[in-house]
Parts: sequence; structure tokens; C-alpha cells
Amino acid sequence: MSAHFELSETTFLASVTAPGEQESDVVFIPVFEGDDGLVDAPGLDAATGGEVGRARQSGEFRAKFCHHFITPVQSGWRARRVALIGAGRHGDFDAERQRQVAATCAHLSRRVRASRVACVVRGVSDPIAGAQHAADGMSAADFLTATFKKDGDLPGPLPKTVTIVATGADQAGLAGSVRRGRIIGESANVARALANEPANVLTPREFAARASAEGGRSGLTVDVLDEYRLRELGMRLVLAVGQGSAEPPRLVVLRHDPLGASDQPLLALVGKGVTFDTGGVSIKPSEGMDRMKYDMSGGAAVIGAMRAIARLDVPRRVVGIVPMVENMVGSKATRPGDVVAGANGKTVEINNTDAEGRLILADALWYATHLGASHLVDVATLTGSCMVALGNHVSGLMGGPAAWTSEVQTAAERAGDRFWTLPIYREAREQMRSEIADLINTGGRPGGAITAAAFLREFTNGLPWAHIDIAGTAWAEKAEPSQPKGPTGVAVRALIELATSGSYPSPPRAD
Ligand code: BES
Ligand code: MN
Ligand code: ZN
Repeated sequence: MSAHFELSETTFLASVTAPGEQESDVVFIPVFEGDDGLVDAPGLDAATGGEVGRARQSGEFRAKFCHHFITPVQSGWRARRVALIGAGRHGDFDAERQRQVAATCAHLSRRVRASRVACVVRGVSDPIAGAQHAADGMSAADFLTATFKKDGDLPGPLPKTVTIVATGADQAGLAGSVRRGRIIGESANVARALANEPANVLTPREFAARASAEGGRSGLTVDVLDEYRLRELGMRLVLAVGQGSAEPPRLVVLRHDPLGASDQPLLALVGKGVTFDTGGVSIKPSEGMDRMKYDMSGGAAVIGAMRAIARLDVPRRVVGIVPMVENMVGSKATRPGDVVAGANGKTVEINNTDAEGRLILADALWYATHLGASHLVDVATLTGSCMVALGNHVSGLMGGPAAWTSEVQTAAERAGDRFWTLPIYREAREQMRSEIADLINTGGRPGGAITAAAFLREFTNGLPWAHIDIAGTAWAEKAEPSQPKGPTGVAVRALIELATSGSYPSPPRAD
């Protein structure tokens, strides 16, 4: 049994003519709260027989974020219907909100069974970037969570054509931006679909198979390390986490190696790929344990980002590394108190088998340094503690030097992902001391997100490194107009943006 997720064959077009010229079933127009004169949509009110003016006057439509108002065109405009979409306050209209508005348009298109739609970009200082976010958001609506429903009341298909409209913009620039947005949105959906798969379907071997298929299709070089290869390389921490499961672990390496970039920095993206986390012998409570199928969301984000990096021909070397394991209980499982040496030679006392993510990431980070990485980023659903600290809408960012973490943070901001920095002071490392080994894998409850990062840092060989904890952000706890309840694809866009336009400083790290 498996429910493969497939991308729709929607054609995305770019148009620089006026909204009234768009021949479509629905033309979507974002409208801001307050004094939005809509002067850039000439003839709108007349085309709808005064309905747009009436709805705005009466307060039926007040441009609240992602609210909508849809009405037929009576004359003048070429579209059959016009839909106003609330864009909220003008000052709040960042990349994420631009995408959410577009996703709302797409969900609405599905609902009214529109086959041709146009989505207008307006109210942004950079319409070319705005077009990217619009195409990205429209694509995001291609992801539906109910892949296993046989008799569900499924929403309609995505429209056959989506035209992103930025009146007066440069046609070639706009077209490139729309293509870019489409690839980014699709890649986020690839990550979301993986995170949504149940753990009986997405075992480590299946995860590796899907990652390599996706990588191969996208033009990446793929290497899948099996349990024997992992042993040869000394990645015993990965093996220790996987050994309680009947499903053997894997480690997938995806390489993007553009011509002429071999003397450039090598960015490594490392993602936690725990296909299911029972906690192991330090077992989790049963309440909510089903959610732990998403414990590979960091790995999925890396796979999604690598897909886009290849398809967008990013002129930089990037390697994606995803260790894949199932953390189970069994007679072969690691016991609390076991001591295991990682591939970099450091020994770890595993006092809690539920702190498994840092163990597999430790070896994967070492492998990144082994492959010659110059800059490291890891993404992981690592700690409940980070979720408690920052909630469900901000991911934790840790690492060093500050020049590198702030590069990562600003790339995230441009891309519409929110990362917030937590500090790693000396005392955090002291919390990770073991009586009998180099490190212990948990340092107690205080500052749990930070001590986890202090642990990981021991495996980064002094390189610039950023750790992103997405435990709170990888899953939407409630449905929004722009996103169903379920996997969010967090960090995919930040990683793509970092690979594309980040600058890679190389000052020494202070720790
Ligand atoms: N996958 C979990 C982190 C997690 C917990 C994500 C709850 C989302 C919700 C991770 O492997 C884990 O179990 N972390 C432990 C660490 C602890 C034992 C130090 C945690 O956060 O409780
Ligand atoms: Mn765990
Ligand atoms: Zn986990």
C-alpha cells in the first residue's frame, strides 16, 4: 500500500498586461486593509457592475488577511469572475504572507473548479520577487494531505493554467521569477508529502529510494550508504539508533556539482531523517506518539531543497546528507547507559535513547566534514524544548560564528521562513559532560534546545555551522486558508535561498 504524491500538470504563465486584459475563469486581486485605492486595477468597479465598490463600502469585504469576495464580471474585463483576496495590512505583507495569499487563491480556484486563473501581483516594492512568491504559493496548494482516502470528498484539481500578472514588469524577468517560484513551491511540496507519509510506508529504505529517485530526476548525483557501508565508515551512532528496528538504516548523499565551481565553498545541508521515533527503550508516552512519523521533516526539507537547487542550476556546490533510521524498541535496541563511539572518534554515553536525533546528526555532520564541506547547516525536529521556547511559528537557530548564523537568518527572512537565534554559552557544553565518556547525549531539562546544539557542535570540526530546530514548526496544528493541517515544508525555502544568494564568510569560530 502506498499513496504516491504526484505534482499536477499546471502550466504557469507570466503576463505584464493589465488585470482587465486577463482572459480567465477568475482573476484574483489582493487588496489591503485601510485606504487601498485599487488605482492599478482600472475599471474594476465598473466591470463588476459596482459590486466591488458596494462590498467594500458595506464592509462585506474588509481585506482581512486571506478573506475573499468573489463576483461575476458584467462587462469590460475579460475574466468571467473577479475575486478580491484580503492581503491584510500593507506593512505586514512579507514574503510569507504573499505566498499565503497566493495559496488561498489556489485553494479557492480548486473549490470553484476554475480551469484558467490569473493572480495579480500588487502592493509590493519588488514585483519580480512578488511574482516568485505568488507562483510559489499557488504551487503550494498542490499539496493535499488525504492521500489515502478512497471515498473522500476531494477538492477540485488545480487549474490547468495559472497566469501571474505584474503589469508593466519586464517580461523575461517576470517569466524567470515565475518559473523559479513554481520550482520552489513544488520542492516544498515534495518535502511535505514525504513528511506526511506514515512510517509503515516510509521506512528508512523507502525514504532512501524516494530520495534517490527524486535526486536522479533532478540531476543530482546520488549515493545511498547501507548499514555495511555505515559500519565501514565508523558511523556507529547512526547504527546504534537504528539497531532496535527490523528496518536497516540508510544515509543518503545528494550532490550538486556545477561546472567550474570546484574551487568554491562547499555548503553541506544535513537533515534529521528519523522515519519514526518511539523514543526507543526510553519510550515516549503513547499520547501523540503517532505524530512522530514527521521526525524526518528535516531530512525531507534537505531533499526538497536539493531538488530545487539542482533544477534552478544554482552556481554553487552543495551536498545534502540525510541519515535515515527508525528509533524502535527491541531486544537489540540500544540501552540507556550504553557507550558508543561516533565516526569522529568521540565517545557518547547514551543516557536517553529518545535523544536520538543528535546521535545520527553527529555522524552525518562528521560525514559532511569528511566530504570536504566548508559551511554546515543542519535541520531537525530535534527538541520538544525548542517548541516550548519558540512555539509553532518560529524555528530555533543556533551555531556560530555569528556572521554565518546571521547569513542563514537573513536568507530565511528573504524566503519567508522565520528563524530566531538561541545562544550556546560555555555552561551548555558543561551540561553535556559524562562521567565515563567524552559526552552524554542529554543534559537534563533546562535549555534543552541549546544543550542539544552544544552536543552537535562537538561534531562540526570548527567549521561555520548553523543548526535549525524545526520541532515546533514542521507541522501545522490547525488548518489555515493557505495551508491544511499537517506538514508545512518549513526550511525548504530558506535553504534554497541560502544556497542561491547567501554569501559565505569564513572567519574563525569563537568556541
Ligand atoms: N523527535 C523528538 C523531538 C520532538 C518532541 C519533536 C516532541 C516534537 C515534539 C526528539 O527525538 C526527542 O525525543 N527529543 C527529546 C530530547 C530529550 C530526551 C532530551 C525531547 O525533546 O523530549
Ligand atoms: Mn526522540
Ligand atoms: Zn526524534
